[in-house]
Amino acid sequence: MGKFAALALTLLAAPLVLSAAEPAAGEPEAAAPVRWENWHAGNNVADVGSLQRGARNFMNYCIGCHSLKYLRYQRMGDDLEIPTEELNTNLVAPGSTNLDYIVTSMPATDAANWFGKTPPDLSLIARSRSPDYIYRFLKTFYSDPSRPTRSDNLAYPSTAMPAVLSDLEGVKAAVLGPTKMFDHFQTISPGNMSAEQFDGFVRDTVNFLDYVGDPAQVERRSIGLWVVLFLLLLSAFALALKKEYWKDVH
Ligand code: HEC
Repeated sequence: MGKFAALALTLLAAPLVLSAAEPAAGEPEAAAPVRWENWHAGNNVADVGSLQRGARNFMNYCIGCHSLKYLRYQRMGDDLEIPTEELNTNLVAPGSTNLDYIVTSMPATDAANWFGKTPPDLSLIARSRSPDYIYRFLKTFYSDPSRPTRSDNLAYPSTAMPAVLSDLEGVKAAVLGPTKMFDHFQTISPGNMSAEQFDGFVRDTVNFLDYVGDPAQVERRSIGLWVVLFLLLLSAFALALKKEYWKDVH
């Protein structure tokens, strides 16, 4: 009994000791550089709400320069459970119909003249580059007044793409560490969104591009769930049947 009491006391005291130690672990780590290379998109293509928001983000902020030339508006509407009427009023670009492919109205020659590069079609970008890469790309623009776009990017240095989301995110500077390597970001002017809101905005946009890269995956995953359920049910029946057959054999 004495042993038990001692053990119980130790167990009770353990959380106290741990919580007493906690403030030390949570002390400001001034020296830890931001490891943006390890950021993950953390998106989920089964989240239809997120895909719908991502589609809206794309139509508001990306289609001015980028196309999704292998995807028709109507296919997107069907996959993302967006009624045709809403599709036509809110998402289909002016001059297009729900039966058209999603193409930018910017002529390639103009784009090449303005940016020095034609903005790539983004249909397959999530597959060629990965959702995590696009997430890092969209979140690591920083101010650089010496460049033609007045900004640069950590994931894609010297990119020709301007920081098109700075009204949402705000403008930030890249602060370098003692070894002249990137250390952390510093806000120069805030945007319309909080850091969490902007993070969600980017995650939804990346999620949408992930879906676009392989539109069948949304349907495939929901079918996959039914297949697994079916197999479980089948196993249960097979087991019951086996028991029935073997119950008289001793
Ligand atoms: C004002 C025009 C413009 C807008 C708007 C724009 N982009 Fe771009 N984007 C470009 C250009 C130009 C490039 C080519 C950059 C390069 O290769 O240097 C590019 C390249 C990219 C790339 C490829 C990067 C790589 O590694 O090759 C991705 C991904 C991308 N854009 C995503 C987006 C998303 C998502 C949006 C909407 C939130 C968006 N862009 C809005 C002009 C634009």
